[in-house]
Amino acid sequence: MTLLEQLGIQHPILLAPMAGVSTPQLAAEVSEQNVLGSLGLGANTVETARQQILQTQALTPKSFQVNFFCHDNVENDSAANQAWIDYLSPQFAQLNAEPPTELQCIYPSFKDNDDFLNLCLETRPKAVSFHFGIPHPHQIQKLKDAGIVTMVSATNLVEAQAIEAAGIDVIIAQGVEAGGHRGIFNPSIDAAIKTSDLVQLIKKHCSLPIIAAGGIMNGQQAKAMLALGADAVQLGTAFVQCKSSNANAAYRQALFNQPLTQITATISGRPARGLINHWHEQIDVPDRADLAPYPYAYDLAKQLNALASKQGDFGYGAFWAGTNVAQIRALEAQDLINQLVVEINHA
Ligand SMILES: Cc1cc2nc3c(=O)[nH]c(=O)nc-3n(C[C@H](O)[C@H](O)[C@H](O)COP(=O)(O)O)c2cc1C
Repeated sequence: MTLLEQLGIQHPILLAPMAGVSTPQLAAEVSEQNVLGSLGLGANTVETARQQILQTQALTPKSFQVNFFCHDNVENDSAANQAWIDYLSPQFAQLNAEPPTELQCIYPSFKDNDDFLNLCLETRPKAVSFHFGIPHPHQIQKLKDAGIVTMVSATNLVEAQAIEAAGIDVIIAQGVEAGGHRGIFNPSIDAAIKTSDLVQLIKKHCSLPIIAAGGIMNGQQAKAMLALGADAVQLGTAFVQCKSSNANAAYRQALFNQPLTQITATISGRPARGLINHWHEQIDVPDRADLAPYPYAYDLAKQLNALASKQGDFGYGAFWAGTNVAQIRALEAQDLINQLVVEINHA
């Protein structure tokens, strides 16, 4: 069976799962075009994740993927968290606010317990993808037994080989150009391989289907990835501007006006690529304090951003975007996909 048959789609295009940006509406609009819609559920509780899946299923009978984070949770280290709170306290002071006294683990991992697994088994999305690592063997087995396609992001060959050895169905080759969090398993090791190089490397050494992700904004770039051995492409940044995404007005405006991106770990505690703002310019400076680990740092970043946004300063938002954001087009999902298909066929 080809990857497209496995996923139940006609064209080799996937909407990237985007926690905080994905919506059931966007997922359904995309799936209705016979490509794979998606829900980024990594920031959800089991209950809100269930609502999103059921809403998407009510909007379309077509297939879509859901996505979870698979990080190894670190112990709550209050000393490390406090050092990071202290470092950011001048930012809170500028906003006439006190920083919090402690930080929470705001994002559970799929591996923590089987609640998200059971949700997948109950709601049966076509595919489930994972970022930051590989689920437990029993979780993979149960998903496969249920006929759900399993997919995991790899940013280097070692991760790709581990994904294949674990019995996962599909490798998502996430290049360094990609917007959002690097899918790296170990947050302190990043080979920073370009999408095109990564696709070729994985093609040469692994036998699973490959989805290329990172810096793909048009059909010509998609076709180039397919020619290098990818079976499909996954686009995130290109879809953030669609009306039915959850991006706020400041984020949408920045996507079209601020074409520079950079990777920083200071927002969440894990490296992620976004539009350059206060985080890159003022906080991720050479003499910065040691960072609190993911997702504790993210708790602080979200509180700082919420305070600043209320006061009209949107420079603390996590405006994730890939390196090719300057090629973004103001097209709604249906038109964007039609355009991509035409470009792929004529490239
Ligand atoms: C706003 C945004 C949020 C993202 N959130 C997730 C996520 O929740 N899970 C995930 O696996 N990947 C996430 N990613 C990464 C994408 O899956 C994908 O690798 C990336 O969008 C591809 O690069 P591009 O943005 O240049 O198209 C996100 C990307 C963006 C832009």
